[in-house]
Amino acid sequence: MSKQEVILCHHLADSLKQAIDQCPHDRLFIITDENTHRLCMPQLKSTSLIDNVHEIIISPEDINKNIETLSYVWQILSDNGATRHSLIINLGGGMVTDLGGFAAATFKRGMAYINIPTTLLAMVDASVGGKTGINFNGLKNEIGVFAPANSVLIETEFLKSLDNENFFSGFAEMIKHGLISTEAHWVELLTFNTQVIDYTYLKTLVGQSVKVKEDIVEQDPFEHGIRKALNLGHTVGHAFESLALAQNKPVLHGYAVAWGIICELYLSHIKVGFPKDKMRQTIQFIKENYGVFLFDCKQYETLYSYMLHDKKNKSGVINFTLLNNIGEISINQTADKETIFEMFDFYRECMGC
Ligand code: GLY
Repeated sequence: MSKQEVILCHHLADSLKQAIDQCPHDRLFIITDENTHRLCMPQLKSTSLIDNVHEIIISPEDINKNIETLSYVWQILSDNGATRHSLIINLGGGMVTDLGGFAAATFKRGMAYINIPTTLLAMVDASVGGKTGINFNGLKNEIGVFAPANSVLIETEFLKSLDNENFFSGFAEMIKHGLISTEAHWVELLTFNTQVIDYTYLKTLVGQSVKVKEDIVEQDPFEHGIRKALNLGHTVGHAFESLALAQNKPVLHGYAVAWGIICELYLSHIKVGFPKDKMRQTIQFIKENYGVFLFDCKQYETLYSYMLHDKKNKSGVINFTLLNNIGEISINQTADKETIFEMFDFYRECMGC
C-alpha cells in the first residue's frame, strides 16, 4: 500500500490546492454529511478551489454507514459521469471518510480521494491509514478494503465547532495512542484540561497522536502484525457498540473504545502484568469523562458472540491486543470464555453497575 500524505494544516486552502494539484482529474466530487455541508463546506467554498465540484450530501452518523448510503453515492457518481480519473474529497467525520473512501476505492475499481476529517476521531484515527468500509449485518466495518487516501488534510480549526461528546469520542482514540506509545504522551493526555480546551495545545497533541498511528501503519499497512496494536480496546469496544446498536441506543465509537480499554487493561493486567496503578489511573480518567455503559450478566453471552466476529480472530479464537506496560505491546493474545466473563465482572464492579 502506498504511503499516504498526512498534513497538519496551517492554511487549509493552501494544503488543499497542493493536494488537488497532485491529483489530476476530469471531475471533482465532494462527499459531505448534513452537518459538514452546513458547518464546514462554506469554508471550502470560500476558496476558489472547488468551484466546479459536485457535492454529494449523505445522512450523518454511523447508523447510515451502510450499503444503502454507499449505493446512493455510487449512483450519483454514475449519474454524473464519474470516471476512474475523477477525484473525491471526503469532508466529514469517520463515517464520511470510511464510506467515501470505500466508494472511491470501489467505483470503476478505484479512483483518487482526499480526506478532510472534521471530527477529532476522524483526524487522529479514521481518516489516516487507509481502512475504508461500511457496517453490515449489525457488525461494525464488516465490509471494506485497505485503500489509502492520496492526502489527508487535518485542519484542527474545525474542532472548535465540535460538541462535547464528539470531542471525547476522538479523545478516547488519543488515549489509546498514548497507551501504545510512551508514558510521557499518556501523561500529557490524562492531564489535558478537557473542561477548558486549549486548542493550540490540542493541535500539538493531535499531531503527536497522528504520528503514533502513521508510524505503526507504515510498518504494517495491512495489519498482519503490529498494526493490531491500534485495536487496543476495540475487541470489547466493538461488542459494546454492536450491543448498543441492537438495543437501539447507539453510542459513539470512542465511548465504546474507552469502555473497551477498561476491559482490555484488566486482561493486560492479569495476563501480561500491566501495572495496576497505571490501569487504575486510566480507568479513573475514563470513569470521570465517559460515564458508564450499562449491561448485566444476562448479556455476557451476546457480548461474547459479538466478539467472536472480530476481524482479528482466527479459527474462532478471540484475538486481543494487550499491553505489558505503556508502549509494550503484546499482539495475538487470547483469553478463554471464563476469563472474558470475569473481565465483564471487573468492568461492572469498577464502574459500579
Ligand atoms: N482504527 C485502527 C486502524 O486503523 O488500524
